[in-house]
Amino acid sequence: MKTCAVVLAAGLGKRMKSATPKVVHNLMGKPIATYSIEAVKAVAGISKVVLVIGRHSEESLKGIFKADPMVSFAFQTSLLGTADALKSGLGGLNGEQFDYTLVMTADAPLIRGETLQGLIDRHIQGGNAVTVLSFVSKDPSSYGRIIRNPDGTIKSIIENPDATQEQRKINEVNSGIYVFSKDALPLLDKIQINEKKGEFYLTDIVSIASENGLKVEAQKMFDEDEFIGINSRAELLQALNAMKRRINRHWMDEGVTLMDENTTLICPDVSIGRDTIIYPNVIIEGKTVIGEGCVIYPNVRIVDSTIERDVVVKDSTLIENSKIDTGAAVGPFAHLRPGAAIGKKAKVGNFVEIKNSTLGYNTKASHLSYIGDAAVGDNVNIGAGTITCNYDGVNKFKTVIEDNVFIGSDSQLVAPVTIGKGAFVGAGSTITQDVPDNALAISRVRQRAILDWVKAKFTTDKHK
Ligand code: UD1
Ligand code: CA
Repeated sequence: MKTCAVVLAAGLGKRMKSATPKVVHNLMGKPIATYSIEAVKAVAGISKVVLVIGRHSEESLKGIFKADPMVSFAFQTSLLGTADALKSGLGGLNGEQFDYTLVMTADAPLIRGETLQGLIDRHIQGGNAVTVLSFVSKDPSSYGRIIRNPDGTIKSIIENPDATQEQRKINEVNSGIYVFSKDALPLLDKIQINEKKGEFYLTDIVSIASENGLKVEAQKMFDEDEFIGINSRAELLQALNAMKRRINRHWMDEGVTLMDENTTLICPDVSIGRDTIIYPNVIIEGKTVIGEGCVIYPNVRIVDSTIERDVVVKDSTLIENSKIDTGAAVGPFAHLRPGAAIGKKAKVGNFVEIKNSTLGYNTKASHLSYIGDAAVGDNVNIGAGTITCNYDGVNKFKTVIEDNVFIGSDSQLVAPVTIGKGAFVGAGSTITQDVPDNALAISRVRQRAILDWVKAKFTTDKHK
């Protein structure tokens, strides 16, 4: 049994009112179309996926999927509707014959691989020529309605603009997902243009197949969220909310505590260990991995980062492409920029920015610092207001701070520079030369007091 999939994505998506093709819009960190492609690829036995692209979506979709060996592209020359799009897709099979063709729109990102699998199984078991996935919708207005015969079999699909008032009351709708046996596909040529829209509707194949004595079935599903089709910005938000809820429920089932389901946004490729606690207003993006027993306080965003177990991320912290080792604490108001690696039990405190730098075990930068392009050893104390001066306007230079160093507050370390093991930098120093191990380096002007200077300068009563 050979099965292929055709995913329809040639349209621009006018209702989005956007210069970006609809299925390229971002949903939880990924283009909408990637979700259908991932779901299709999770179905056993699908050996080829054809993505139908058009002149609006060609460039961006090719950019996204060209590296995927399972995906090939078919170009739909003019946007003549979903039936024409499928024809273009079949053209992309280069004459290769398949027993079954799974067809779906690229704008329904919540679909699960197992649901597609179930639909194909049902199609094969039922000996169907066409199987349509339908679902019950609370607001069916943006979907085609499923019209059934008195005996309950499916008769046709009617799009909203073509439906009568009575038909519009039907809440069983078309998901835009179908399985076709190869004997049903020639019927595509019998579809007439819909005069109102000037398009060939794939949905018309249902009535045509029935009229031609082929077996058509609609498999009815009840979890509406899984079939949300995105046509507008409002539906994009609806899909986002449904996906957010699905993901949040999953992590709660896995033993993660969420304090606010609505404002916690965990993207699909994130993983979180049990007994981690997430406060409200937290966004976790990309391929972030969070270990067990962490606490993520409010207003934190974490992107593509790895956080080991028992880490505390305090309020209003941004973490991008960084690593945080076990038991460390970061924040509040900290910024870990790409390439920050925070050691075990290290502490990064208020208003500290770290970029492309490693901090060793138990090292602390607790207040108001910039650490860029630095290798900082173990048990180092970086005083408040310490700045690595890593950039001379043209090039970036490295700062090395070895183990057990103490950097006094408000110091500048002008890179390239190395502070040797156990050295001590006096507060307020500007360090421009390497500091030997265990030395004290101090570069500030010695303090002096000019006695009665104020009295001599001012003659007002206030100063007398
Ligand atoms: C379609 C179905 C509707 C169903 C809904 C489910 C038809 C006529 N209607 O309506 O019954 O309830 O999906 O979400 O099929 N596309 C092309 N080329 C075209 C036209 C569309 O590739 O010429 C692609 C689009 O990029 C999109 C998909 O097909 O990914 C569906 O098109 P869309 O315009 O969103 O159809 P709906 O009006 O939502
Ligand atoms: Ca749609």
